[in-house]
Amino acid sequence: MHKHEIPATMRLSLLLVVVAALSARTAAQLPLAGGGGGALKPDFYSQSCPRAERIIAEVMQTKQMANPTTAAGLLRVFFHDCFVSGCDASVLIASTQFQKSEHDAEINHSLPGDAFDAVVRAKLALELECPGVVSCADILALASGVLITMTGGPRYPVPLGRRDSLSSSPTAPDVELPHANFTVDRLIQMFGAKGFTVQELVALSGAHTLGFSHCKEFADRLYNFRNQGGKPEQFDPSMNPSYARGLQDVCRDYLKDPTIAAFNDIMTPGKFDNMYFVNLERGLGLLSTDEELWTDPRTKPLVQLYASNATAFFDDFGRAMEKLSLFGVKTGADGEVRRRCDAYNSGPAVAATIPKM
Ligand code: HEM
Repeated sequence: MHKHEIPATMRLSLLLVVVAALSARTAAQLPLAGGGGGALKPDFYSQSCPRAERIIAEVMQTKQMANPTTAAGLLRVFFHDCFVSGCDASVLIASTQFQKSEHDAEINHSLPGDAFDAVVRAKLALELECPGVVSCADILALASGVLITMTGGPRYPVPLGRRDSLSSSPTAPDVELPHANFTVDRLIQMFGAKGFTVQELVALSGAHTLGFSHCKEFADRLYNFRNQGGKPEQFDPSMNPSYARGLQDVCRDYLKDPTIAAFNDIMTPGKFDNMYFVNLERGLGLLSTDEELWTDPRTKPLVQLYASNATAFFDDFGRAMEKLSLFGVKTGADGEVRRRCDAYNSGPAVAATIPKM
């Protein structure tokens, strides 16, 4: 045997080591079961589409300047996307005659068109620059980050490489998302089941520093209100009386005109700041879920902290948003990079519904 030659037994074990190393690498590149987001990285597009973030920022800036409600709308769309089957752009799939999507869920009917329009514009610009490369799920994640910063909020890291969903359920959103009449118990349970702490629930609720809610979401606090003993009251007594009367006036005709809405943060509605928490202390919370964060002993200390310390809120909100953006993400064969954000690349699955000739 030549002195540099490796004995047969050793060759075999070396081969096994190499095979093991190779399969470990493949495993790391495979889709993550449960989608922990471990395979995502900030520079995912540095070679394939280096200007992606710049392009998204520019499109969002133009859109937000023309329609200042875009930031709030897009942030809510992102939350509704992530909490239902993970951050995978399943919320963007349009309903077709043959196949319903998350758009059809009651809770998603109020998602604003401007947010979807912003994504369409970003996708168009990206497809011109680097076709088929940037996923719609990454567009949503990056756009949310950019718009939060643009309206005065914190900047936080957005790891990239999400793939877009291959399905979109019309029933899941009403089950998976929180409703305005939930108790704090139920909120804590729902967020907890998805791995979010009480502190993250309170920090993320601070997103209600932006945007508005339609009257139907809080009308039961204003009209025919009954206290816990069943006694009628003029309005929910946890509300500041002038605020409650003002809202009664604004929402007077909401049944005839369901588009009437009020700002979530009455003091600084277009600015991302900690005023939402200051409002809660003063009885100026709009939704009962908002106000309850102030009454419940598990959440009240956090409301107090964020009301008095904007930096603590920004730090915790940024961290919680980064975590939200990694929730249930799809990589590898679990998803695809859609060519357009409102349809699967294969087109709508019609085969099962085409009637037999
Ligand atoms: C904690 C439980 C939550 C409940 C019960 C809740 C409920 C609601 C409701 C009922 C509206 C009004 C929708 C409408 O009438 O158009 C709304 C708006 C909004 N929500 Fe939440 N939400 C929650 C958490 C979150 C989270 C975690 C985020 C984001 C991180 C978020 C972001 C928003 C935004 C930005 C708006 C304003 C949307 C707009 O102006 O178009 N919400 N939310």
